[in-house]
Amino acid sequence: VTVYVPADSAALSVGAQAVAEAAAAQARQRGLDIRLVRNGSRGLFWLEPLVEVATPAGRIAYGPVAAEDVPSLFEADFLHGGAHALRLGPTEEIPFLKQQERLTYRRIGITDPLSLEDYAAHEGWQGLARALALAPAAIVQEVTDSGLRGRGGAAFPAGIKWQTCAQAQSAQKYIVCNADEGDSGTYADRLTLEGDPYSLIEGMLIAALAVGASEGYVYIRSEYPRAFQVFSRAIALATAAGYLGADAGGSGRPFHLHARLGAGAYICGEETALLESLEGKRGQVRFKPPLPAIAGLFGQPTVINNVVTLASVPLILARGAAFYRDYGSGRSRGSIPLQLAGNLRRAGLVEKAFGLTLRELLYDFGGGSASGRPLRAVQVGGPLGAYLPESRFDTVIDYEAFAAAGGMLGHGGVVAFDDSVDMAAQARFAMEFCAVESCGKCTPCRIGSTRGVEVIDRIRAGREPQRNEHLLRDLCETMLQGSLCALGGMAPFPVLSALDHFPQDFGLPRP
Ligand code: NAI
Ligand code: SF4
Repeated sequence: VTVYVPADSAALSVGAQAVAEAAAAQARQRGLDIRLVRNGSRGLFWLEPLVEVATPAGRIAYGPVAAEDVPSLFEADFLHGGAHALRLGPTEEIPFLKQQERLTYRRIGITDPLSLEDYAAHEGWQGLARALALAPAAIVQEVTDSGLRGRGGAAFPAGIKWQTCAQAQSAQKYIVCNADEGDSGTYADRLTLEGDPYSLIEGMLIAALAVGASEGYVYIRSEYPRAFQVFSRAIALATAAGYLGADAGGSGRPFHLHARLGAGAYICGEETALLESLEGKRGQVRFKPPLPAIAGLFGQPTVINNVVTLASVPLILARGAAFYRDYGSGRSRGSIPLQLAGNLRRAGLVEKAFGLTLRELLYDFGGGSASGRPLRAVQVGGPLGAYLPESRFDTVIDYEAFAAAGGMLGHGGVVAFDDSVDMAAQARFAMEFCAVESCGKCTPCRIGSTRGVEVIDRIRAGREPQRNEHLLRDLCETMLQGSLCALGGMAPFPVLSALDHFPQDFGLPRP
């Protein structure tokens, strides 16, 4: 009997290792033969550690399981799907999972992350097989036709980025994967690195074939030591199996892949600062142009994409551009992994085609607030995203609709707050975050963010609130218009949205 106990960081943080050890010990004591698979997480975090058992009727889930529960699970014959207080039924029937459209995340939590056999048995390398039969320009065209846009946050069309790099003339090109997932409440990249690493390797190899690159780097944030470990192992195994190396995947072309660990700076998620860091320099933002696609890593043409973008490519190649493009809404095609966090009853990963509303996401999936109090605001798109009040919860989740509502979808992080939140404190936090993480290259961000914290403090202390509000709005305008990159250029969004929607929290009159 196969038993699945996740070895994903989120599951490990709530005791999955002890559960796995307890299950192995119980099986030994009872003379039962079990095969213990350490899968990735299904992304249903409130149920972790989520233990599954393979039965003739499919996989049955139990959770959240503590090590102390394991003897009673064996007593209840859970190996055959027996009844138990923690039994959740067939995993695929759990509504949170059943109502999703898992495309990029279709293998997450299902396979053994490092098993090449498992990967191949679950549609692995089929995108590569298709790419090998296509000319490089046709691979780029397929990605363009799919409508895939950058899932790191900026939503730039991936195919156009690849084309720019493909057309650049150079003997050396690079594929860089941005896995410096720094946004608050996000973990989509980590789930892939730990739970389905070969999908990223396959996507990067396809990108390399498309643009003519022979070297690749994955830049992983320092807070993800386990992701770094698992992914490094995946590179070694894929290299030994011939998917990477001198004749990568039987393409007749070399593609070597390297994993690098960051050192804890949010700004290294900005693509040019990331490239500086990869080159061994201090992570500081570069001027654009030139675009990385023209002159990126070590001055050479470089495709730099987020983990989710690259991990979506194998599916697009395997099933065709039209398959992917058929999902979605408006100009936002395909699916997006939304990551629920903060004050919600059910936190976890929701992969859905663009087009659902924020309200559906928060209540149908998230189950409303964990505290039971009314939800008052959500921040979507990381620490630089606007705070949306309840009156905007019917906004449709697609890039354009979200921008029209004054928000930003970004990398899909959703952090919810109930009515006990102090939005003036949240605004201060946003400015302070910018001050702490600023790379220091440009004045509006380096100095403006520090002055911004001081002005917010004056407003909150009731010192000339209206005059200081005017000053704060003026400062935000300067940062918006004059900053070199998105950190200084977007930090005003949470501040201004807090001021606009929740002036009473600053002691200011409602307009
Ligand atoms: P951007 O709009 O300047 O660029 C988007 C991408 O398109 C870049 O890779 C750029 O090089 C490329 N590009 C633009 N024109 C091109 C052309 N003609 N040919 C080829 N490539 C071209 O946005 P940026 O500054 O890269 O990203 C900002 C976004 O990052 C924000 O919207 C935010 O959502 C997101 N973000 C994500 C974080 C995370 O943890 N995932 C953290 C912080 C911000
Ligand atoms: Fe650096 Fe801030 Fe300027 Fe970006 S906006 S380049 S982080 S100083």
